Amino acid sequence: MFVTFEGIEGTGKTTQIKKAMDYLASKGRECVLTLEPGGSRLGQHLRSILLHMESRDLTGETELFLYLADRAQHVATVVCPALDKGKCVISDRFADSTVVYQGYGRGLDPKLLHQLNEVAVAGTWPDLTILLDLDPEIGLRRALARNAAECKSREEGRFEAEAMDFHKRIREGYLTWAGLHHDRFRVVDAAQTPDEVFAQIKPHLDAFLEK
Ligand code: TMP
Repeated sequence: MFVTFEGIEGTGKTTQIKKAMDYLASKGRECVLTLEPGGSRLGQHLRSILLHMESRDLTGETELFLYLADRAQHVATVVCPALDKGKCVISDRFADSTVVYQGYGRGLDPKLLHQLNEVAVAGTWPDLTILLDLDPEIGLRRALARNAAECKSREEGRFEAEAMDFHKRIREGYLTWAGLHHDRFRVVDAAQTPDEVFAQIKPHLDAFLEK
């Protein structure tokens, strides 16, 4: 079972992923937690380049190919080996982030990005994608406060530094893309308390556990 979590910055993905891991473990499922960018050994280097404030001069295309390289290595060395062993894999972001951020956000063609993703994932698509939906004004406030508290504003702050317009396009892009892939996307209202948000996610996990 391969589950991915998506959403704009500050939606509480980390908290909900932890709850999902604990819940699946309580049901006897062995889970691997991973992320993009940065899930593989190579990916950790790519993450520090991609998110660092010094990388503000990356072109849209350069950024795209770095995310795709991160994904190809992540799928081949982390996701597939775990799925092959019958483990449940939960990824904090995956291919949909590229379509939404580089496509709807930066203006590259979402259809082309989907095709490039097909190459990078080589057939390994998530069974379930949870989209945490939130007003970007709230999300960004939360994300900036978190980066400041963790002293990560420089190392990981490049996307948070984008204008509010960009974040609004990302939110709308996610909702559009989720509507086009409603077979695997489940949209959750992330404005509620963490327990209330997880109460929306749990039935979707249960549906898979019952299969
Ligand atoms: P996060 O791990 O803290 O969510 O940060 C990852 C950032 O990278 C986030 O702003 C979204 C962005 N991103 C893309 O632009 N394209 C991608 O394909 C992925 C995986 C992430």
